[in-house]
Amino acid sequence: MIPDDVVEEVRARADIVGVIGEFVQLKKAGKEFRGLSPFKKEKTPSFYVIPAKAFFHDFSSGESGDVFSFLMKHQGMSFVDAVKYVGARSGVDVREVRRGRGRDDPWRPYYEASAHANAFFQERLWEWEGGEGARSYLDGRGIDREAGERFGLGFAPDDWSALREAASVHGLDEGILLELGLLKKSEQGRDPYDAFRNRIVFPIESVTGRVLAFGGRLLGKEGKGAPKYLNSPESPIFHKGEVLYGLSWARNHIRRDASVMVVEGFMDVVSLAAVGIRNVAAPLGTSLTESHARLLKRYTTQVRILFDSDPAGLRATFRAADTLLGQGLHASVVTLPDGEDPDSIARAGGAEAVRGFVAQAVDVLDRKIAILDERGYFDSIEKTRRALDRLLPTLRAARNKQLRDIYVTRVAELTGVQRKTLLGELQQRPLHAVRPRPATSRRRPSPRVHGLGAERTLLLLLIKDRDWIEKAGERIGPSDLEDGANRVIFEALITDPELEALPDDTMAQAVQRYEKLMADPETLASPEQVFADTVAKIEGNGFDRRLEAIEEEIRRAGTEEQFRLVRDKERLMKERRALPIDWRRPTRKLLAFGRTQQGGEDRK
Ligand code: GTP
Ligand code: MN
Repeated sequence: MIPDDVVEEVRARADIVGVIGEFVQLKKAGKEFRGLSPFKKEKTPSFYVIPAKAFFHDFSSGESGDVFSFLMKHQGMSFVDAVKYVGARSGVDVREVRRGRGRDDPWRPYYEASAHANAFFQERLWEWEGGEGARSYLDGRGIDREAGERFGLGFAPDDWSALREAASVHGLDEGILLELGLLKKSEQGRDPYDAFRNRIVFPIESVTGRVLAFGGRLLGKEGKGAPKYLNSPESPIFHKGEVLYGLSWARNHIRRDASVMVVEGFMDVVSLAAVGIRNVAAPLGTSLTESHARLLKRYTTQVRILFDSDPAGLRATFRAADTLLGQGLHASVVTLPDGEDPDSIARAGGAEAVRGFVAQAVDVLDRKIAILDERGYFDSIEKTRRALDRLLPTLRAARNKQLRDIYVTRVAELTGVQRKTLLGELQQRPLHAVRPRPATSRRRPSPRVHGLGAERTLLLLLIKDRDWIEKAGERIGPSDLEDGANRVIFEALITDPELEALPDDTMAQAVQRYEKLMADPETLASPEQVFADTVAKIEGNGFDRRLEAIEEEIRRAGTEEQFRLVRDKERLMKERRALPIDWRRPTRKLLAFGRTQQGGEDRK
């Protein structure tokens, strides 16, 4: 026997066109490949291989199936031999597991305990009298028994020891239940207690359908101290960065539809399935990881993201999109009305309403552009440059060559920056991009000295209070900062406002400075003032440096070029005069800080 997940891995990695192509001469026909039927004599080709769906269909004999069934039907192989054959061609190590022998899966007891718990929760939901409240809760949310059973939903009673007692009857190891997070240790040294109480329980399955963990939603409204959703902790069999909720049920639908919808929550997955939309999966309350992206890539390259449309949701959307692009997937964004999620849309308007929104999905780069445009980012040269700073990470993320090429062209047309220049920018590794200083290397005018202080102060503010990052990004871009390390930090913060530390491979000076800023005990007395003053100063300095650079260019340029440059310069100066604050005002004591003592003498 070959373990299910190995079979799945082989199937996912198989080059079905390559394998079948060894036996049948195939020709590309659009997205499919066509050839003469290997099962029945014919003159006109009616045998199709559809790589996007990992499927073949022979219209003349009626045979169809996946890569394994082709080999079984055409070569008379056994299933195991077919898997080994394909595995050998896709670099997957296929080993049979002998049933009942000692070399067993060491995690089997964990899977068994999870399966038991799942059965217990299901029984409590559907068969138990006390499950009435939970049943009517689901009913009220449009989830009937069929949909509920398909996802193995259950109910954890409002009881501190229901699962524990049921488990002891079955002789389950308490230590394992503790490790799985189904039981929790009591602080007073008493018996462990049930972690999930009074919750609808969603079993979280591996791609092959083994229960790994659970998510639980509180019945009704959030209580004091009880979070709305509770997920199992990481355990020997559960790593939430590597699992997508719903994928075990969705994977075949994803293949068939050649696309997947990524939603935020358990409820979205179940509720969409209840109205017949099944190519749906959700991360488990965390951001989308590279592993998630690779997992999806086994089934499709087309991903539609349906997250909240509020600012936090948008940030998560763009972060997820960059991760997907980085794995060579294609990401588009579905925008839902304010305050709605896929679940609420499906409930109110059924599948049709959801499909209506999905039909308007917009490529992630176009979505970014549209948002920047709405905020007036393309109204001036200055802002366009800043817009570019925000688009570059997406261009950099795009691994797929064709897609990247389309993106570069699109941005070049939009901003008027030459393709060549953009490609140059892209060559620089993310976070290493430090643009050359203006050619002028004359003595630095004195206001700059204060400028650097402003940069550091602003970064400190942004790091301490992340809510300011969005606003700062609207006013200034990385290239407005003078210091290279500061730019790197600023760009990283705009890209990921929740950033804890810079990646190790970033410019060392920036990594250290970031750490120092994170550890800095200074607290900001009046953040609004600090923000206004530092941003104004940096903005003004940025203008100054660019003006200097343009002047230098004007001195060197030919007549025709000079004409254009002078016009640019005039526009820049006009934009600078329109700045909200007169940044040239001599700096009084702008930055009011209070130092908080960390530990030490004055502790009472
Ligand atoms: P409903 O309120 O039941 O419709 O759920 P929702 O999907 O609208 O919830 P929400 O958008 O608040 O959350 C989406 C996902 O984030 C959930 O499915 C969980 O995975 C996760 N999540 C939400 N709230 C919490 C919480 O309090 N704790 C944890 N750990 N995760 C949460
Ligand atoms: Mn909801």
